[in-house]
Amino acid sequence: MSKEKFIDTLTLHSLLLRLLLVCRSLAGVTGDEQKEFYIVYLEDDHHVNTDTRAQNHIHLLSSVKGSYLDAKESIVYSYTKSFNAFAAKLTKAEANRLLRKDNVLSVSPSRYHKLHTTRSWDFLGLHLTSRRKLQTERETIVGLLDTGITPESKSFKDDGLGPPPKKWKGTCGHFANFSGCNNKLIGARYFKLDGKPDPEDILSPIDVDGHGSHTSSILAGNLVRNASLFGLAKGTARGAVPSARVAIYKVCWVSSGCSDMDILAAYDAAIHDGVDVISVSIGGGPADYASDSIAVGAFHALKKGIITVASAGNHGPSLGNVANHAPWILTVAASGIDRDFRSHVHLGNGKDFSGLGVSAFDPKWKLYPLVSGADAARDSASKETARFCVEDSLDPSKVKGRVVFCEVSSAGTESVIKRIGGIGTIIESDQFLDSAPIFMAPATIVNGTIAKFVDAYIHSTRTPSAVICKTREIKKAPAPFVASFSSRGPNPGSRRLLKPDIAAPGVDILAAYTLMRSLTGLKGDTQFSEFTLMSGTSMACPHIAGVAAYVKSFHPNWTPAAIKSAILTTATPMSVRVNNEAEFGFGAGQASPTRAVSPGLVYDMDEMPYIQFLCREGYNQSSLAVLVGSKSINCSTLLPGLGYDDVNYPTMQLSLKNKQEPTTGVFRRRITNVGPAVSIYNATIKPPRGVQITVKPTILSFSRVLQKRSFKVVVKAKSMPSMQMVSGSLVWKSSRHIVRSPIVISSP
Ligand SMILES: *[C@@H]1O[C@H](CO)[C@@H](O)[C@H](O)[C@H]1NC(C)=O
Ligand SMILES: *[C@@H]1O[C@H](CO)[C@@H](O)[C@H](O)[C@H]1NC(C)=O
Ligand SMILES: *[C@@H]1O[C@H](CO)[C@@H](O)[C@H](O)[C@H]1NC(C)=O
Ligand SMILES: *[C@@H]1O[C@H](CO)[C@@H](O)[C@H](O)[C@H]1NC(C)=O
Ligand SMILES: *[C@@H]1O[C@H](CO)[C@@H](O)[C@H](O)[C@H]1NC(C)=O
Ligand SMILES: *[C@@H]1O[C@H](CO)[C@@H](O)[C@H](O)[C@H]1NC(C)=O
Repeated sequence: MSKEKFIDTLTLHSLLLRLLLVCRSLAGVTGDEQKEFYIVYLEDDHHVNTDTRAQNHIHLLSSVKGSYLDAKESIVYSYTKSFNAFAAKLTKAEANRLLRKDNVLSVSPSRYHKLHTTRSWDFLGLHLTSRRKLQTERETIVGLLDTGITPESKSFKDDGLGPPPKKWKGTCGHFANFSGCNNKLIGARYFKLDGKPDPEDILSPIDVDGHGSHTSSILAGNLVRNASLFGLAKGTARGAVPSARVAIYKVCWVSSGCSDMDILAAYDAAIHDGVDVISVSIGGGPADYASDSIAVGAFHALKKGIITVASAGNHGPSLGNVANHAPWILTVAASGIDRDFRSHVHLGNGKDFSGLGVSAFDPKWKLYPLVSGADAARDSASKETARFCVEDSLDPSKVKGRVVFCEVSSAGTESVIKRIGGIGTIIESDQFLDSAPIFMAPATIVNGTIAKFVDAYIHSTRTPSAVICKTREIKKAPAPFVASFSSRGPNPGSRRLLKPDIAAPGVDILAAYTLMRSLTGLKGDTQFSEFTLMSGTSMACPHIAGVAAYVKSFHPNWTPAAIKSAILTTATPMSVRVNNEAEFGFGAGQASPTRAVSPGLVYDMDEMPYIQFLCREGYNQSSLAVLVGSKSINCSTLLPGLGYDDVNYPTMQLSLKNKQEPTTGVFRRRITNVGPAVSIYNATIKPPRGVQITVKPTILSFSRVLQKRSFKVVVKAKSMPSMQMVSGSLVWKSSRHIVRSPIVISSP
């Protein structure tokens, strides 16, 4: 039980700490010692109905346990709708015995994974007035695996919507503290297969955390006029597809996190229920796809034509930590938008500066006495910790009625100061200054330069004073940047595949929240709001899931690969000067929803090329069996495949060999015309310095829609120092369309 999944939001306080993905304590499997939850994957049995399948699971397990009753009690879930597997509580010996059975493909422990706007759509060019296919948008169903949902939220009102689409086979029952579904929120279920109550959550699809309400409304929230957080970020809140239907599958729990077996159960249900797009803002799976429930679930979804969009993770800015990087997943990085939330701070000497964060409090006085935490220590022993204003380090009599200057330490410094009578907190931090935390009492974050100033001022006078003003929204230069927290490539799963795929806004996004939790969740916070700001790749992911649903509403028959291709080849590459990690930060670039609807050409494929890709990566019959549903794959008959990576991907990545000679990669691609029947495309190559790239042929002419053309790209690059990357591009251009693929060359 070591690996965990996290929701990819920054809890904004932990963000200060760089403890971005703090695990809340995780309940191990206790009571039944030496037994753990395992997921047992079985060979596909298409002819068998679901009841028989479940019976077969019990029989199979009986043969190992020696008792039908024991087997029946041990099975906690039979995945029977969309694939063939079960979850059960087993000893290690039982797991091993099961693994030796003929039709058992794998037996893997179920791990626990933790919980990792208004302006954002206009920023991406998807305006309220953008062309929509309303009829098909209403037929589109988006599914989210998350913390649940707030059904009362204005974002999920069903104004203007008829009954659910006919294809919908899902359910929404009556649950505790859950007011029920409507024609907008058409599905709500929860999965908690370990059977242990979560002390901070409710066994119901209700969202106690706020994360699921936020992501759902970014994806498909109905229009809500005059939405804001205490007047900040005011505007019309809406999702990408405001008329699409929402199905929520609650798999993440406030204190226990998100378990593999629950995630798989949600996939089993969602695929069967008829969703069109699945959005997963959860991270933390292992690099091996066959033991990552999100990768496995997403592959089964892919086979049914359903695209999975997932968050890249919040482990940036260091390299090589992107999550959810399977080639059949659309992996989303977070970018910033053109606004900032800042508070003015006035000092008694007339100096004025601004700090970051949302402090919704109006000061009563013009100035308050100011003290440094270091000077307000409870006693000499606590002097060191007092600098950081940690709990119990300060003398309340030196803090009462004052603004306190602290170095950043743990979450909720302002809450510590408030509890002992302080008026406000100025926090010094040089980290992660690109998203705004929300404070439960007056506070602001300043950088090191300003902090030096403040500290010098405090010690320059007998009566230092300061005031922190209420936060205002500031316009920033629009150059999109990759958020510092957003996880970067290279892809730890494969050096032949560029990840992340794409970037979308994930900084300070305003969207729906829950009234069951205060804004910060900190002790003593009395701030509640129907909308709030959150940051994380968790917020970027539903933006792209929304774009995928938008594209699908125009092209209901497109495959997941075609939808991904449309989104990637129409994206706008971001500035390399602003974003040093280039494609390892933003993938193909910032998504452009309106262009994605009309890409001209798409790199399409079914599921077989993904298998070939994995064969090339060293997967074999047994490690592929879980994905394919049988032991029938023989990689040696699939390889050698067509080219360097064997996958018809819309981006290309060459990993240099670690030696002096140049490395050559031959990429073969097949592209499908989805634009005008008669079209001619010319190739333009932009090679990075020192790299030779050629394409053949250089002109592709099409005479009909859905016609396919093949071409070959040869990339030849000299060796580079370790851990470097350079990038160029291939662009197919017609009179109407620009189809762009980044080409990345990296050294190990
Ligand atoms: C959930 O519902 C129960 C029973 O109606 C009620 O006692 C409880 O306070 C509710 N919990 C929350 C967090 O609203
Ligand atoms: C808009 O919201 C603000 C703050 O939430 C509120 O004070 C104001 O009355 C609202 N305006 C309208 C027109 O509803
Ligand atoms: C600190 O912030 C000020 C004002 O926003 C800015 O001018 C300065 O460059 C920043 N310093 C650093 C080291 O980021
Ligand atoms: C298949 O791959 C797995 C994991 O890489 C490895 O443990 C196993 O030995 C391989 N099996 C064969 C038959 O090569
Ligand atoms: C896979 O195919 C190769 C070549 O056809 C064959 O030699 C080999 O026996 C096959 N392996 C398995 C496990 O069937
Ligand atoms: C493509 O190239 C041909 C021949 O070089 C040229 O005549 C044509 O104008 C080009 N088309 C576009 C769209 O650039």
